[in-house]
Amino acid sequence: QGIQPTDRVDHMAREIDEQPDAAARILDTIGDDIANGALWRSLELAPFERLRLLACGTSLNAGLVIGGAVSRFGGLAHNIVVASEAAGTIVEPGTLTIAISQSGETADVLRAVEEGPRDRPMLALVNNLHSTLARNVDAVLGCSAGAEIGVAATKTFVCQVLVGTGLILSALVEFGRLSSGDAAHLVGELRSLPDRLATATLAARAAIPGIVDEVRHASGFIFLGRGAAVPYAMEGALKLKELTYRWAEAYPAGELKHGPLALVEDGTPVIVVDNGDPRLAGNIAEVLARGGRVVTIGRAGSVVDIPLGTLSPCGPLEAVVPLQLLAFTLAAELGFDVDKPRNLAKSVTVD
Ligand code: G6P
Repeated sequence: QGIQPTDRVDHMAREIDEQPDAAARILDTIGDDIANGALWRSLELAPFERLRLLACGTSLNAGLVIGGAVSRFGGLAHNIVVASEAAGTIVEPGTLTIAISQSGETADVLRAVEEGPRDRPMLALVNNLHSTLARNVDAVLGCSAGAEIGVAATKTFVCQVLVGTGLILSALVEFGRLSSGDAAHLVGELRSLPDRLATATLAARAAIPGIVDEVRHASGFIFLGRGAAVPYAMEGALKLKELTYRWAEAYPAGELKHGPLALVEDGTPVIVVDNGDPRLAGNIAEVLARGGRVVTIGRAGSVVDIPLGTLSPCGPLEAVVPLQLLAFTLAAELGFDVDKPRNLAKSVTVD
């Protein structure tokens, strides 16, 4: 019973389990305000023409999803800025910066915000509404995940993606870039997320232990996706590194042939977030031809079979659940402390 292979109930296991309820709570609170634009209006910010997403770690992966939504549904440009590398980046007029941070205390993010430019608007998407970051920006939006204790972020990622994507849809309605009919349809897609996250949790609980048995001796892992699945492949690789201390790299699947394929040998685990892009079949065949162990997450016939919502404004968000559980279960099997991985801190307040 339960997802943890040990008797101990880890914070991380509980936080993964809380994801469907957290998503449901958010949708109950802001679902209507997304479709009618009220969520954006409540921030009292000037309309933007481009978006700049500023963050570190898991929050940066959430930024990839949110940036993808503004381009996909609104045709607006976005750029992703690693907070520690923000210095000197050009911020054009009409840009809204969204600084994303669970803690709101990450030094790299605070510095990037401080360095400005201060004459361009900044919004913080934070879990801690009383944080330093929340005090240093023009507007604040909570990701409403509740307390997260595990150092490796899980439910805060899901909530950042959901609230951030909701905000984008709401802004696009308000700017006249998304019709209210289309917005209502997309919000309807979002409303299916709690169920989809719950289904993914069940499917992953059933499938992941067997996969972990097979890959537990692998020294390195590759994560692949295409399009809206790429940020989730990135997050899967990050979780695996953080928790299991194994090498893990994520790539857009098309990049495989430009280098990473050289790493694939007999038994190399290659985790594919399969959102139905037909080009993935060729990538998978290349890996199999070299003896790689392909683990697909997604469409029917996958090792972890959960129909991924490619039409969802968040892309295949539910794929993150098996990816979290893969990292969690392998780490627990290896005897590592899943709540407090070595060398890492929940919030990094130094350079
Ligand atoms: C640390 C944590 C990560 C987190 C990152 C950014 O490295 O270990 O889990 O993603 O900081 O934290 P933030 O609070 O800014 O989201």
